[in-house]
Amino acid sequence: MRWMMAALALAGCAEMQKASPQWATLSGGPPIIIAHRGASGYLPEHTLEAYALAIDQGADVIEPDLVFTKDGVLIVRHDRYLSGSTDVADRAEFADRKRSNNDPQDAENVGRVDWWVEDFTLAEIKTLRARQPFPGRLKEHDDRFEIPTFSETLALAAAKAVQAGRPVGVYPETKHPTFFASIGDDFEAPLLAALEGFEAGPVFIQSFEPEILKRLKGKTTAMLVQLVYQYEPGAGPNIPLDQIAAYADAVGPSKNLILDDGGATEFLAAAHRLGLSVHPWTFRDDLPNLGMAAREELAIFINAGVDGVFTDFPDTAVAVRDALGSPN
Ligand code: G3P
Ligand code: CA
Repeated sequence: MRWMMAALALAGCAEMQKASPQWATLSGGPPIIIAHRGASGYLPEHTLEAYALAIDQGADVIEPDLVFTKDGVLIVRHDRYLSGSTDVADRAEFADRKRSNNDPQDAENVGRVDWWVEDFTLAEIKTLRARQPFPGRLKEHDDRFEIPTFSETLALAAAKAVQAGRPVGVYPETKHPTFFASIGDDFEAPLLAALEGFEAGPVFIQSFEPEILKRLKGKTTAMLVQLVYQYEPGAGPNIPLDQIAAYADAVGPSKNLILDDGGATEFLAAAHRLGLSVHPWTFRDDLPNLGMAAREELAIFINAGVDGVFTDFPDTAVAVRDALGSPN
């Protein structure tokens, strides 16, 4: 209930803003719609097919999470472990690769026994097929699509931008950079090399780990985005905003940093005062949004002035954004 009251408070601001032709974003332009892992609400995430659908649905930017194969190729997966989003567990030839996690910093996966991406060459990864990892989502496209490399994803964005006659941006996330560096795979050089010559749209490089972003500052024209979250309800971001402003262009907060059970927070205004764009995650049509329908939640955040939204359902976010921007 407190959440609903907070939402109504933000919605009140929203009504005032709707009367203005200006968006409440940092730039004054419309917020960008970021296809989180592609149109991952509809198709297995992080596949070329999910990215193509997202672009067809009007997403401005596609989001690939990045990890390294055994032979040092950047591929597109959310997790280092492979059982959640591929058919690896059903592949007899890989049965003996199953082992426990070897990254002590990967707190969510301490003790997990699985198949780990750094044990597989690109050629082996290419024999796997993607699966829908979210319970309750359509599984009819499981075991059809390949795992793409980052380069293939960039090529798709470029081709779709030409086809659509509009920019298509990319928003790569470096996953577990400290761990990968410890086994000889540093993100900096291969990431920048892959992005060299990409001109289809804006580029945002995001990470939960600040060090990789600090190292990239001054070495790329891409916008740098620090991901942040709450340690506990009511707490501020795990990294202070004034520190982030020293090296990043934008901040990617969990939604509850902007609007939580305790009400609307100061986060969005504070970030904007520091010149940081704000791209909260993750908007989902099919997961509970603290009592609100997905469209209602999106409208509240967009009207409040967020500069972009990560969503698994780009068509919904595009529709809400465009309706809010329409003079009628
Ligand atoms: O990158 C923004 C958001 O995607 C962070 O969460 O776990 O989905 O990568 P995750
Ligand atoms: Ca991500």
